[in-house]
Amino acid sequence: MKIAFFSAKPYDQTSFAAANASYQHELTFFEPRLMPNTATLASGFPVVCVFINDELSGATLRAIAHTGTQIVALRCAGFNHIDLSVAQALGMTVVRVPAYSPYAVAEHAVGLILMLNRKLYRAYNRMREDNFELNGLLGFDIYGKTVGVVGTGKIGQRFAHIMQGFGAKLLAYDVQENASVLQLGAQYVPLSELLAQSDIVSLHCPLLPSTHHLINAESLQHLKPGAMLINTSRGGLVDTPAVIDALKLGQLGYFGTDVYEAEGDLFFEDRSDTVIQDDTFQLLQSFSNVVITAHQAFFTQEALGNIADTTLANITQVGAGQPCPNEIQA
Ligand code: NAI
Repeated sequence: MKIAFFSAKPYDQTSFAAANASYQHELTFFEPRLMPNTATLASGFPVVCVFINDELSGATLRAIAHTGTQIVALRCAGFNHIDLSVAQALGMTVVRVPAYSPYAVAEHAVGLILMLNRKLYRAYNRMREDNFELNGLLGFDIYGKTVGVVGTGKIGQRFAHIMQGFGAKLLAYDVQENASVLQLGAQYVPLSELLAQSDIVSLHCPLLPSTHHLINAESLQHLKPGAMLINTSRGGLVDTPAVIDALKLGQLGYFGTDVYEAEGDLFFEDRSDTVIQDDTFQLLQSFSNVVITAHQAFFTQEALGNIADTTLANITQVGAGQPCPNEIQA
């Protein structure tokens, strides 16, 4: 099938070209994000393949449906950025990649924890200036600390497993309990209790209306003073101005995040020559106890290979009129 890729980066072209050897689809890569004013690029393509910051609003979907697109293939797990009811009304099929490497994201969350706790960013910079001082690098043992896992699905479960290896005590919060996480010795508790008892809280639930700003001014008040918050899920789980206030008060001791609510206008591009207009983001960046990465938690060789393979398999199945287990219903 003819597939138009949006937000396509060189690494997407490499991984999809390699996986396509087994599928033989016709791949066309476009750099721009898909949004109403780039929708004409999809003209004549029965399939569009998009990523997390493409804008799949009703207006975009109507525009691409009008010019012949019938399948929207998300090359990601989250689907909070597509208006599914409009897609369904237009008779479009939407597929996604529900799992490609829970290890990648869970391991990145651990990387953020170690970076903040052991101040590795500061140590790296000091070393380059021949500054061998230890002052300001003091960390804490994770062994024996309490780690709260919010959302214990594929990634949260993997993260809990790693933290158990560190010798941490595990608390968990989810709308449904996961037997494997219970087997690790985790105890499910209400969110307020998890926040009050945990030294480290890591978010691994999807962005839904029920989880939007799960971490806000009110929930941050429950936090154990000086605790660490890690977000490798979606920026919208966190009310960033409330996090900034909690950092200023010392209520929140550390914040590590791979995602940001308004990341669509920032991430995945080199903006080093521009003046960043997002004052909230710039303020967040200025804290020495904050580490931000630009949505790279998924970015491993294994994950890219799995994303490409599953996406092309999804498209092949839908194109052949076969049932696809990765189809999303409104
Ligand atoms: P999953 O579907 O396996 O697990 C999600 C868990 O969240 C489930 O156990 C579910 O019951 C739970 N949940 C749902 N509503 C909840 C609520 N209101 N409160 C607490 N828990 C709730 O998903 P998976 O694969 O573990 O991914 C989790 C999230 O990680 C994704 O939704 C996505 O937003 C994010 N992600 C981030 C990536 C990155 O590169 N930073 C890459 C891949 C995923």
